[in-house]
Amino acid sequence: MYTLVRELLFKLSPETSHELSVDLIGAGGRLGLNGLLSKTPASLPVKVMGLEFPNPVGLAAGLDKNGDAIDGFAQLGFGFIEIGTVTPRAQPGNPKPRLFRLPEAEAIINRMGFNNLGVDHLLARVQAARFKGVLGINIGKNFDTPVERAVDDYLLCLDKVYAHASYVTVNVSSPNTPGLRSLQFGDSLKQLLEALRQRQEDLARQHGKRVPLAIKIAPDMSDEETVQVAAALLDAGMDAVIATNTTLGRDGVKGLEFADEAGGLSGAPVRDKSTHIVRVLAGELAGRLPIIAVGGITEGKHAAEKIAAGASLVQIYSGFIYKGPALIREAVDAIAAARG
Ligand SMILES: Cc1cc2nc3c(=O)[nH]c(=O)nc-3n(C[C@H](O)[C@H](O)[C@H](O)COP(=O)(O)O)c2cc1C
Repeated sequence: MYTLVRELLFKLSPETSHELSVDLIGAGGRLGLNGLLSKTPASLPVKVMGLEFPNPVGLAAGLDKNGDAIDGFAQLGFGFIEIGTVTPRAQPGNPKPRLFRLPEAEAIINRMGFNNLGVDHLLARVQAARFKGVLGINIGKNFDTPVERAVDDYLLCLDKVYAHASYVTVNVSSPNTPGLRSLQFGDSLKQLLEALRQRQEDLARQHGKRVPLAIKIAPDMSDEETVQVAAALLDAGMDAVIATNTTLGRDGVKGLEFADEAGGLSGAPVRDKSTHIVRVLAGELAGRLPIIAVGGITEGKHAAEKIAAGASLVQIYSGFIYKGPALIREAVDAIAAARG
């Protein structure tokens, strides 16, 4: 069934088909129809970051940037939903075209640049949603906020979303906002994490609940850099790490149409790079901090590989575009089978 839908969607430009899909999933959600599109995944409850997940397969950030289709995505069977990246103010993102499909490689290249309607719009959508499951809100900085003042944007978003999120993801790994990835290293990372952790404590007192803070990192890191990030996360007392965002590398797509477009590459070609980061992180973190693995899951078995590499949860984006909602159940089943 999805093969047919995909054939129609892939006739449209990637961005038009993206917008249409989110609209349709949102509309289906409001009508309560999306459960009909895919068989409900098996129940595979897990507890991570103190939160109860009905299954460990989530929607990755960037598909529902504005929180417009939360109920719709939830009805497809995801164990959790991450919306955003959201910035303090609405911004248009980069000029179009900025989204490219590389179907031969089951890959996508994007340089969207955090196009979103701003944190207030997102919060209104969250409040209108019926969803009661685990909702992650992924926060970033506006493109015109100097990177030295990035912390102000993250704090502003954290203040606003805190009461409405099950967990908050700090995105320092998009390749499409100049300077953003520099926040993953050294003193910039330490200062950012310290400021966010301090604010998390203040907000926890104020709201009487502790909302976990995760950080999302890039796959384009050496093992040494990954080890340093792991140490900084433990030092700061973060609650989770999401590995990974898209890659600037072009391994696995060379010679294909659009391979030389600027932006982040996702889907099958990022899989091994991303899983390698998970493995290195898991070795360093030794269970002290949970890992949410994302990158290149296009079949159920890839989700099980991520869990075997040390992840507690997984997320999918590009695989969902290529395989449709059936991939959610396939991933849950593969993880359950690997557990035995
Ligand atoms: C079009 C597109 C937009 C994305 N936007 C975001 C975003 O706003 N924030 C974010 O943290 N990740 C974003 N991502 C990255 C995904 O969440 C995910 O980390 C990455 O694509 C690797 O997973 P995948 O191979 O399953 O796609 C985006 C990915 C794509 C393809």
